[in-house]
Amino acid sequence: MPALIDTFGRRIDYVRLSVTDRCDLRCTYCLPQGFKGFEEHAHWLSFDEIERVLRAFGELGVARVRITGGEPLLRKNLTQLAARLSALPGIEDLSLSTNATQLPRHAHALRQAGVTRINVSLDSLDPQRFHEITGGRLQDVLDGLMAAKDAGLHPVKINMVVMRGVNDDEIEAMVEFCRMHDFTLRLIETMPMGNTGRAATDHYLDLQDVKKRLEQKYELIPSVMPGGGPARYVQVAGTDLRIGFITPISQHFCATCNRVRLSVDGTLYLCLGQEDKLELRPLLRGGISDTELKHAIVSAIARKPERHEFREKPGQIIRFMSMTGG
Ligand code: 5AD
Ligand code: SF4
Repeated sequence: MPALIDTFGRRIDYVRLSVTDRCDLRCTYCLPQGFKGFEEHAHWLSFDEIERVLRAFGELGVARVRITGGEPLLRKNLTQLAARLSALPGIEDLSLSTNATQLPRHAHALRQAGVTRINVSLDSLDPQRFHEITGGRLQDVLDGLMAAKDAGLHPVKINMVVMRGVNDDEIEAMVEFCRMHDFTLRLIETMPMGNTGRAATDHYLDLQDVKKRLEQKYELIPSVMPGGGPARYVQVAGTDLRIGFITPISQHFCATCNRVRLSVDGTLYLCLGQEDKLELRPLLRGGISDTELKHAIVSAIARKPERHEFREKPGQIIRFMSMTGG
């Protein structure tokens, strides 16, 4: 079986696995208030089905898996799934993206189950503003972050969606917060995912300008982070702090894309910003063999689009980020 190489020569070795489309927060740019369109339980891939698909990916050369959501810790017994995935042949790196509200209860068990590092969404350090953006309590996230540190999860990366007029006055505060706690900071441009994401692009801020602004205050040295990914990193001179810029709009990074996304209902999305997909659930439940499953994945990868068109066609993606977890 060939490794997963698409028609643009990109090697796919990374799967982002969404284990639920539900979330206990309602970030303005992600999930709409009062949203009712969640996937029905009967359509969720079971842990056995997920393990089977990820085993196939592992045999096809995928070495890294990130568990995401929605909020992945809302999926019951997630720690058990994590342990099963980290035991799969070929899977060398298991990580988690979370909003951290449930981390105080789960951080240690996750670490023991083989999750080594996490990404946490955090857009504001001001309790009132945090509540306005997410509907949640800042203290829950801060408790979660400290639990992650205690559990030895490292690195902890803070994802901050930067929005002009909403939280762009807090970037320096976030830099200091991350430096103090030994977190990595990643600044993210708003993406037009769903009508919520599109509304947020009214607050779009070009991160190239933010970088210039930070250069006034800090000496920034080009840097890298293990794991790579789309972020372009700098290190703040004289500190261990790294800041990553994720710039899907001002400078897209599709040429080095290495990933596909599996949603909770078993849809394999080939690109965050396109509809191209493979529905795996009917295949899995229709008795497909392991060899056929791998063939189906290989031919889907051959259809991976060259790039997203967030700039050219911002109206195109109707699904919310919560469906694919970024
Ligand atoms: N644009 C940019 N980032 C988004 N996220 C959710 N929706 C959007 C959007 N429309 C971020 C979350 C989280 C990550 C998975 O994606 O804040 O950090
Ligand atoms: Fe939940 Fe993350 Fe979406 Fe916020 S961005 S509503 S935390 S899934």
